[in-house]
Amino acid sequence: MSDPLAPLPAFFHLIALDAVDSTNEEARRLAASGAPEGTLVWARRQTAGRGRRGRSWQSPPGNLYASILLRPRCAPAAAAQIGFVTAVALGEALRRFLPPGVPLSFKWPNDVLVAGRKISGILLEASGLTGDRLDFLVVGVGANVATSPADVPYAATSLAQSGAGEVKTGDLLAVFAESFASGLARWREEGFAPAREGWLARAQGLGGPVEVRLDRETLSGRFASLDEGGGLALDLPCGERRVVTAGDVFFPDL
Ligand code: BTN
Repeated sequence: MSDPLAPLPAFFHLIALDAVDSTNEEARRLAASGAPEGTLVWARRQTAGRGRRGRSWQSPPGNLYASILLRPRCAPAAAAQIGFVTAVALGEALRRFLPPGVPLSFKWPNDVLVAGRKISGILLEASGLTGDRLDFLVVGVGANVATSPADVPYAATSLAQSGAGEVKTGDLLAVFAESFASGLARWREEGFAPAREGWLARAQGLGGPVEVRLDRETLSGRFASLDEGGGLALDLPCGERRVVTAGDVFFPDL
């Protein structure tokens, strides 16, 4: 890797690579061979980057691809909260590079949007259970720094396209790592409430109409809230409330 990197919090053990299939896959391989919590895999490019719900993630040089290995002593359901801790940390980091006044929001579950366009995505991959606890969790973060993909079914942007100028991926990683380490420590001490509040304060479409596409059905209703486990609480026209834990969200006015 050519980018110099500012010092990271002591929590992290950095592994910097020029190319890898997927930083999530590499973090999983390292986890299986006993790597410690805080192992951070960072690659200049990925050859098989993956996104949520089985999609691929285009990964040319110039953007950020990083995965953090965690060994949280929690049940799988609680691990979803870490996705929101990560999104809030990423939002804080991206904000540091954006011109003042450029709107940044969070789209359920873990996307960050700038001016309504997706700038980053997060992929959580959990593995193994000992009793009711996870063996490990990989938190994968992709952020568009220099470029955004053209042929994706959503509006996308990058830091460069949003007026941030030229940003080094290593600089974004260093700022994100600081925010993430403090957000994670807070989650461990205080639970989900601080991250949940931070996320809700900038939630895209909160209180308005939303369509949620699940594997086998599409639901339309009002985006009421984020529940205590990180699920999207949806008020249906029939008056019923549904909590959705996996799906894709669409807003009529975005
Ligand atoms: C999404 O679909 O929005 C999630 C995208 C997550 C992409 C990141 S890039 C680093 C890490 N490695 C991967 O293969 N995927 C995640």
